Amino acid sequence: MTATAAKTGKSAGTPPAAFVIFGGGGDLAWRKLVPALFNLWRDGALSGPFRVISLDLKEMTEAEYRQHLRQGLDQFCRTAKPAEADWEAFSAWITYVRADFGQAEAFVDLAQRLSALDGDWGSPAVRVFYLATPPTVVRLLAEQLARAGLAADRERVRLVCEKPFGTDLESARALNRDLLALFEERQLYRIDHYLGKETVQNILAFRFANSVYEPLWNRRYVDHVQITVAESLGVGVRGGYYDHSGALRDMVQNHLLQVLCLVAMEPPINFGADELRNKKLDVLRALRPLGAREMHDWVERGQYGSGRVEGEKVAGYREEPGVDPNSSTETFVALKLYVDNWRWQDVPFYLRTGKRMHTQVSEVCIQFRPVPHQSFPASALGEMEPNRLLLRLQPREGIVLRFQAKRPGPDIRLARVETRFRYKEAFRGPEPEAYETLIQDVIEGDATQFMRGDQVEAAWEVVMPILDFWREQGPSDLPLYAAGSWGPEQAQLLIARDGRVWVEPHSGLDEEE
Ligand code: BG6
Repeated sequence: MTATAAKTGKSAGTPPAAFVIFGGGGDLAWRKLVPALFNLWRDGALSGPFRVISLDLKEMTEAEYRQHLRQGLDQFCRTAKPAEADWEAFSAWITYVRADFGQAEAFVDLAQRLSALDGDWGSPAVRVFYLATPPTVVRLLAEQLARAGLAADRERVRLVCEKPFGTDLESARALNRDLLALFEERQLYRIDHYLGKETVQNILAFRFANSVYEPLWNRRYVDHVQITVAESLGVGVRGGYYDHSGALRDMVQNHLLQVLCLVAMEPPINFGADELRNKKLDVLRALRPLGAREMHDWVERGQYGSGRVEGEKVAGYREEPGVDPNSSTETFVALKLYVDNWRWQDVPFYLRTGKRMHTQVSEVCIQFRPVPHQSFPASALGEMEPNRLLLRLQPREGIVLRFQAKRPGPDIRLARVETRFRYKEAFRGPEPEAYETLIQDVIEGDATQFMRGDQVEAAWEVVMPILDFWREQGPSDLPLYAAGSWGPEQAQLLIARDGRVWVEPHSGLDEEE
């Protein structure tokens, strides 16, 4: 088994596959898709014959295109700069085709190329159509593929849709309806790249492959849960997209709600795609709807102003390229949610995410309740603190459990100690990137870590009342926060009103041993 195959537990053999990238000249193909395909190939995980066909409107020769990809690989490959011989061998399987997606001929030509591949390989290949395009052309591409007869084979044709999937509930429903008129649900792979992250997948292993935590994983023992996804970067060159999206659509509707689902879901009966997705859907459906009162007390937004991040002076959001100088788009959201079911009734889940925050860190904190009865004398309690479990999703991935121990000495005095698990110590060797895992899943026809249509809609249902409320409110209550801070003061108040504080990311994982 290859390193990648061993990690994902997949068979070492992928079927013959044609990987077609629409928008192959764009940023996603350059930074993520081609480096991921390269790593899969180099690790032996792409063992069957394969071909990458990149389509884009840009005028480029194949040699120029490969050169452009090579530069991307040098910058973004998770391992050291790839050897020239490896790149030569891999890039021989990449074809660049200039195509206008509005023209039917482009799809007739594609169909011929794909049939020729089947002929060369002597067996029908899996056909992955990866839409690395702006969401506005997803419908057009799906229709063109269907018209050219390229959607019909339900078993081997897969359509991969990037996020955002719709811009609100209505548009997501319409897009689902339109795609499902042409493809079957099992052919649709809606990406949420967080689900391809090792640490996010590990939430399931941690919860359901161990017997010691699950009995505590409920309202009886858990005081509250915090999910923080903080980025120190700003919007960079994506201002044009982001200004129409904002943190709620860009991060909460998908990544944060998916992490919440994994933390809160019931144990699955098996690891079948639908079983897992049903269990996650149950969580989304159990989220308490936010009414007008909750909107004021449980949801806060903010936008970054100028400031300093990691010692560097940085501009405010409204000064970023592509952003409206009067923009009222939120770059930070904090909110409190409740999962109304037997397991979680009245346990708050606090979520926060933002750009240009103090540091880049994604962490889940399970804060346990205090012991029910304190038997130690007051003099012993110096550092007494309820147990806390921290799941660090990135960077410097790991898990920390904090507990109390007796400080050595003649008196009884309690001290806070912890056990730490760090990925880099426990598992030597590189971890596959989210896109590697997800691409391999698509080729192998495993939709477990992709969003089903009803999940996407359920997630939109959760955030829609907030979007509606903000639209009605206008920008009046959009506080600025200094770049490099932990967000606006209102976010501190949100949790302080409940007598709690946001947990600082665990610095212990950042220390070198
Ligand atoms: C993307 C968002 O989905 O996730 C970006 O559109 C965000 O705005 C990114 O920066 C964060 O992903 P990661 O893997 O860097 O945590």
